Amino acid sequence: MNRPVLEGLRLNTPAYVKHARLINWVAEVAALTEAQEVYWCDGSQAEYDRLCAQLVKAGTFKKLNPELRPNSYLACSDPSDVARVEDRTYICSKKKEDAGPTNNWMDPAEMRALLQTGPNALFRGSMRGRTLYVVPFSMGPLGSPIAHIGVELSDSPYVAVNMRIMTRMGRAVLDVLGEDGDFVPCVHTVGAPIEPGQKDVSWPCNKTKYIVHYPETHEIWSYGSGYGGNALLGKKCFALRIASTMGRDQGWLAEHMLVLGVQSPDGRKHHVAAAFPSACGKTNFAMLIPPSGFEGWKVTTIGDDIAWIKPGKDGRLYAINPEAGYFGVAPGTNDKTNPNCMASLKRDVIFTNVALTDDGDVWWEGMTDVPPAHCIDWQGKDWTPAIAKETGAKAAHPNARFTVAATNNPVLDPEWDNPAGVAIDAFIFGGRRSTTVPLVTEARNWVEGVYMAATMGSETTAAAAGQQGVVRRDPFAMLPFAGYNMSDYFQHWLDLGKKLEAGGARLPKIYCVNWFRKGADGKFVWPGYGENMRVLKWMLERVEGRAQGAEHVFGVSPRYEDLQWNGLDFSPAQYDSVIGIDKAAWQQELKLHAELFQQLAFHLPADLTATKARIEERLAA
Ligand code: OXD
Ligand code: MN
Repeated sequence: MNRPVLEGLRLNTPAYVKHARLINWVAEVAALTEAQEVYWCDGSQAEYDRLCAQLVKAGTFKKLNPELRPNSYLACSDPSDVARVEDRTYICSKKKEDAGPTNNWMDPAEMRALLQTGPNALFRGSMRGRTLYVVPFSMGPLGSPIAHIGVELSDSPYVAVNMRIMTRMGRAVLDVLGEDGDFVPCVHTVGAPIEPGQKDVSWPCNKTKYIVHYPETHEIWSYGSGYGGNALLGKKCFALRIASTMGRDQGWLAEHMLVLGVQSPDGRKHHVAAAFPSACGKTNFAMLIPPSGFEGWKVTTIGDDIAWIKPGKDGRLYAINPEAGYFGVAPGTNDKTNPNCMASLKRDVIFTNVALTDDGDVWWEGMTDVPPAHCIDWQGKDWTPAIAKETGAKAAHPNARFTVAATNNPVLDPEWDNPAGVAIDAFIFGGRRSTTVPLVTEARNWVEGVYMAATMGSETTAAAAGQQGVVRRDPFAMLPFAGYNMSDYFQHWLDLGKKLEAGGARLPKIYCVNWFRKGADGKFVWPGYGENMRVLKWMLERVEGRAQGAEHVFGVSPRYEDLQWNGLDFSPAQYDSVIGIDKAAWQQELKLHAELFQQLAFHLPADLTATKARIEERLAA
């Protein structure tokens, strides 16, 4: 520890902080990073307003027109810092095989030398000239038996204000933590120290980036990026990567899933957890408005991105949303695709990388049919429809985001904050596939469901840096988020199912969906969005043992007559083109499953290879 720096630094620890281990750790990180000062976030509205005003002054935030978008701000990032950086994300377990072939790995001692302990360690002096914000947060309702606590130390006030929306943040968390409670330590720096006399930039970050997890010690160290998924460490880093390892060790699940409630006109209520890769419509599905023909049905949101699921005493699986807000993709969101989301975004929002209109509001591609005649794009340049036509320039970055509190959502489920969680009736897994995968298939049993989820493929999106639109296997939509060996993760799902079944529990049914099949004209055939209710209804009636379906090689799918069609003009021929199984395409698909299984051969559960062999037999028959 750098003594002179520590001695010259006041920790400003409020009297209400009683946790000696926490205070010592803050002191150590402050000394290592040479932060100019330390500020403990209390989570109050006054603090949020003050930090936002400070961000406006620093040029990071623009305050939007309060008449059009009250209490809302726009941040535009450095053009190089717009998405999660999967190739810079590491799982530093002691053994390489525990990270597995789908994660980047480095020996923990080597990584610590690089980041913390070596003479040129990246965190050394990385907060010079900046304030270190101490951000205590709870993932899940305060004090819930399913929730866990983290503390993020960050030199970014943008992180502090976003964390206040995305988590239960502030003094109340420290009260729960008491004098010796457990917390996940999360350290974040934008990696841009300010030297004396140097002027700060509006979006500090560093070309070098490291998003690092130590699963054995439950630590997170993030360097160089201010972007949400890399910097709001409660989300992907804690609630998925670290929590998935906690779940493996403690017998529960941390999943990249939305959770929703569905109520039928006669008052029956079910809960569904659904995994889709990033930017594949989880937020839309979680806020779905039932279409015409479905009067009296109601869909309500528990969560839109992450679920923590623990077995209850009755053997059922109970889910909470560990988050308190939505960090969603703005482009494509509009009054038709997601009216509830648009209503959530009317006020109290932090927008990142959308465009600024001339009247001080925001706009993004797909928000309105008619674009504004002029706006300032996310990179601060003039944008007009003519410029866009000529150069292809986007007004908003394709991965532009909004941060908004769950409580802004008009269809928030009354149970969303219930510390006990909600009992899950069905799991859904869905990728973005223009071909091959049918609209919906029910797994005949848990193992077949785990197989479907394990072999899921999806076309890549702008949520991660890198090439877009290429099919990659994304098991359980967890490829970038599983904090340990993917095959062990499959085994964990299989073991949990076996254990619950042995205890006499009725397991949730498992479904595989694909809203994204395209016709010969390259257009989506299935209308999606609210119309997905038709599929959801079928699934829940299957859960109740009331709906019919037809069995095929892969599982059970509804025939045309098994879905409710009133209110939608969708012909049997169109239906065929989204539900049909093309044997040749499936033979190709199975080759891709084989490639995946080859990559994951170490610890790959035998149940999954056996399931594959059975599908192959059926295909050959
Ligand atoms: C997200 C993501 O931000 O999955 O939710 O990238
Ligand atoms: Mn996500």
